[in-house]
Amino acid sequence: MQTPDAPSPAGLYTTNAPSEQNVRLRERGMRDRFGRLIEYLRISVTDRCNIRCVYCVPESDKGYEQDRNLLEYTQITDLVSVLAQHGLRRVRITGGEPLVRPNVPDLVALLSAIPGVDDLSLSTNGILLPRYVKALKDNGLRRINISLDTLQPAKFRRVSPVGKWEDVWQGIESALEAGLSPVKINCVLMRGINDDEVQEFARLTLRYPLHVRFIELMPIGNLEFYKKEHVFPVGMAKTACAQLGELMPVVEGEAVGGGPADVFRVPGAQGTLGFIGACSANFCARCNRMRLSADGYLYPCLGHGIRVDMKPALSLPPDQRESAIMQRMEQALAVKPEGHQFISVIPHAAFRTMRAIGG
Ligand code: 5AD
Ligand code: SF4
Repeated sequence: MQTPDAPSPAGLYTTNAPSEQNVRLRERGMRDRFGRLIEYLRISVTDRCNIRCVYCVPESDKGYEQDRNLLEYTQITDLVSVLAQHGLRRVRITGGEPLVRPNVPDLVALLSAIPGVDDLSLSTNGILLPRYVKALKDNGLRRINISLDTLQPAKFRRVSPVGKWEDVWQGIESALEAGLSPVKINCVLMRGINDDEVQEFARLTLRYPLHVRFIELMPIGNLEFYKKEHVFPVGMAKTACAQLGELMPVVEGEAVGGGPADVFRVPGAQGTLGFIGACSANFCARCNRMRLSADGYLYPCLGHGIRVDMKPALSLPPDQRESAIMQRMEQALAVKPEGHQFISVIPHAAFRTMRAIGG
């Protein structure tokens, strides 16, 4: 269904000159055919990772894909600069594990200097963070998300057999010490694995200014793991947290952001608790984002394999680049699906893992 505000068909964006038409497109921002404003881009800088979480990496996966045809940092910056002129405001650097790619602080410096990008963040598993946190902060990173699925070192080895819990925890401490704010903890809920730790995670927010985000397991990455009934609905996590005290809704502020989490605070806590129900709560109607893979494809939806190759536009000379980028962006907007199809658990044939398309 077309809305009155529906985007123009792909290709309408014609020239770099500020024609009336282009000015109108800029003012309108980037809207998809369901009227959703896209102002957030998650950028994967590598498929590789230095740990192997059970829900992400299938056992049959003998190793990570080699990084091929990675976009250069300058190409990423060119793309974001153009999109920022059309309403992009928020950017997240992600992976794989972004910090395994050399010189990520340089990318932070480039992206944080782009006018219009007022929210730059990074998702990491934390292991390499102590080494890079100062350079990241100095170069303009303000906030960070760190994955942590258990507070028990022994259990960590089951969930992420290659990594060490202590290293992640040091990463979290280094982020707090460096003054990044907010520091968010991404905790993927897994029935029978960490559902007994929900309250411990919630108590972290009493002791530290940490913002815990409970994420419902999604059918991406290791589908075998997903199918073995490991889903633990966020609603149950919320019930467990409410036993610590009445959960007070947090509706604004830096801890809320523009994401899909429902955010609460336990009375007296320094940090907040967020609940992200990928399947049980459908937040697609509020979707404000697209994803850029490390090899330069724009994915309009995490739950679909549809993608648009941005590389040809990024290798053009500067005077042709903006219109080529925006033509491709218009294509991506035109095919952005109304919602994911996680509920039916039918992964698209070309479906790639979270790490490949920028979790
Ligand atoms: N379901 C839910 N969350 C996932 N992540 C990776 N794979 C899945 C999945 N199948 C999480 C990571 C990280 C964030 C970027 O996405 O743990 O916190
Ligand atoms: Fe690495 Fe993230 Fe996948 Fe874990 S979930 S293996 S940290 S990419």
